[in-house]
Formats: sequence, C-alpha cells, structure tokens
Amino acid sequence: MVFVRVLYASEHHSTQEIASRIGTRLRTHGHHVEVRALTSALGGLPRADAFVMGSAVHDGAWLPTAEAAVRVGAEGLRGQPVWMFSVGMSAALPRLLRLLADRVVQPRVAALVDVVSPREHRRFSGVIRREHLDRKGAVLFRLLGCRYGDHRDWAAVEAWADDIARQLTALPARGPAD
Ligand SMILES: Cc1cc2nc3c(=O)[nH]c(=O)nc-3n(C[C@H](O)[C@H](O)[C@H](O)COP(=O)(O)O)c2cc1C
Repeated sequence: MVFVRVLYASEHHSTQEIASRIGTRLRTHGHHVEVRALTSALGGLPRADAFVMGSAVHDGAWLPTAEAAVRVGAEGLRGQPVWMFSVGMSAALPRLLRLLADRVVQPRVAALVDVVSPREHRRFSGVIRREHLDRKGAVLFRLLGCRYGDHRDWAAVEAWADDIARQLTALPARGPAD
C-alpha cells in the first residue's frame, strides 16, 4: 500500500468528481488516498508517496490557483511519482475540431506539464453547460457547433486510475506521517 494525494482544481465540480473517482478507484486497489482541492502551495503539504494532480482547463490554462501552486511547488515534486490530468471540453466539439483538439495540448498546459515532468499527463472531457459561459462564450460555442452536456468518459477515468494503481504497487511503501 502506498499513500497517494489526489489534488484537483475545479470551478463547476466536474474535475472534482473525476478526482474523487480516481481516489475511489485507487482505494479499491488497496492504496491509502487523500483527495483534496489544490488551492494552496504544494510545498505546505505533508509528504506522500505519489501525487495525482488535475485541473479544469479554462481559456487554455489550468485554473490560476492550481497553476500557481504547481509552479511554486514543482521543485519539491522533482523525482517524485506524479501523474497529471487536465479536464477540458474536446468531446463537446464537432468531430473534425475534436480530432484537431485531441492532437494538440494547449501551450500553457503543455508548459506546466513540462515544469513537472509527470509520469503521464492525461486529458479528459468534463461538463459544459450554458450557465458556465458568458454571452460571448455561448455564441462562440454555438457557432463552432459544440454540444452542452456531461462528456465525461468514466470508463476511461477508471482505466487510467487502474493503470496508476498498478504502477503504485511497484513503489516502496511509506506512511502518511513520514
Ligand atoms: C469559461 C470557460 C472556459 C473554458 N475554456 C476551455 C479551454 O480553453 N479548453 C478546454 O478544453 N475546455 C475549456 N472549458 C471547458 C471546461 O474545461 C470544462 O467544462 C470542464 O469540465 C470544467 O471543469 P470543472 O467543472 O471542474 O470546472 C472552458 C469552460 C469555461 C466555463
């Protein structure tokens, strides 16, 4: 059993729920897991054996508090097993745009991933509703032919968590108090 911190930044809860599902899944593999919001400096957190960190993507970047926390805490994460995930809306896009979007990680997200050098960075689609967008955003959304709704692929989230869990079992164990 290893101790894993799952940290998330979420504005409308879909990323939070993905983080919770990852946490639940890791626990079913016997790992000790704490899921909490990524709102403060990573350096202030007690140690863990591994980190899974994710954020909603807004305007091409992780939410500002999460991006700042990761940049400040990146040094402390160096050499530790870290997995990152970003929650966007590629599944809301029409097919051709989605194919394009899936090929390119948005530059600010890619830059943040580079700072951390995680074992893996995975992208998921989240939830997008009319009330999340301002009027201009909603017009653009419609013009692009996007679809509102819950686009989360829970099977993909769970499969990723299972894959992480398998990799965690190969790590040396350490307690939450260490
Ligand atoms: C104002 C706004 C801006 C967004 N910008 C992006 C973006 O640049 N790229 C993207 O893939 N998704 C974008 N999205 C979609 C969100 O990332 C998606 O809805 C996600 O599920 C939000 O997560 P949350 O529910 O945890 O806040 C945006 C959504 C909103 C409301």
